Amino acid sequence: MTTPDRYAVFGDPISHSKSPKIHQLFAEQTGQSLQYTAERVPATQFTTTANTFFAEGGKGLNCTIPLKELAWKYADHKTQRAQLSGAVNTLALQADGSILGDNTDGIGLVTDLMHNHGITLKDRNILILGAGGASRGIIEPILEQSPQRLVIANRTVDKAIELAQVFSQLGTLTGCGYDALSGQQFDLIINATSTSLTGDLPPLPDQLLAKGGYCYDLAYSNQPTPFVHWGLANGAAKSVDGLGMLVEQAAEAFYIWRKVRPATETVIASMNSQRG
Ligand code: ATR
Repeated sequence: MTTPDRYAVFGDPISHSKSPKIHQLFAEQTGQSLQYTAERVPATQFTTTANTFFAEGGKGLNCTIPLKELAWKYADHKTQRAQLSGAVNTLALQADGSILGDNTDGIGLVTDLMHNHGITLKDRNILILGAGGASRGIIEPILEQSPQRLVIANRTVDKAIELAQVFSQLGTLTGCGYDALSGQQFDLIINATSTSLTGDLPPLPDQLLAKGGYCYDLAYSNQPTPFVHWGLANGAAKSVDGLGMLVEQAAEAFYIWRKVRPATETVIASMNSQRG
């Protein structure tokens, strides 16, 4: 019997990661023989642990908080979307022994929005809250869908303006602070801040969401996040968290590694049914 190919997610903390379950469901569904584990790897030990993993025959890694920037530096070469985002969540051993870095977060978000929730991005007014690593990973795939307007709002205004500058060759986008949002309306508001992890909410003005608009929180949890609540209280047609994005970014990583595209619908349903 051949040994299953080895994959893992590295992060810190990692104990609540849903990735092993998701990849196990993908493997069962597609008949692939693989092993996928979650390993707690502090930033200081990332390079040595990744070196050992690949030296011992590992085929691919997912990297999550706080390792995405380190994984970006670790990769021998990167896809364009990873290059731009400054963060890598997927490392894949190539036939020539080199390590490819990719970032599947943005495509995971766009696929979840468009295919699972039926939310189109073309010609929409879109607002992203936050200008950290999570925002960087989703800007390019959103611009690719040709929104009418993309605004990045952040508590630290300079970071939003800088981020808009970085992506300015790909489309029209602007950066601003939360104060500047008063009087504006958006069809889709995406929360890419880390506020849901701390139970907070960015300071959002009333009437920010257009009638029939949508809210999407990149974070997910067993209970609706404060931002998902805000969306519902502000008349969103849909206000959802990032569980679907988590499954879709994993499906894209699985495809990069195995060249087989798993179906995600049943896996999302299964992960949803396991919410506490
Ligand atoms: P990540 O990799 O998850 O994006 P990060 O790079 O630390 O993490 O970015 C966190 C984001 O959440 C930032 O945009 C941060 O705003 P600042 O740049 O002003 O720090 C935002 N954020 C965190 N707590 C916030 C709060 N209470 N209100 C508004 N924004 C907040």
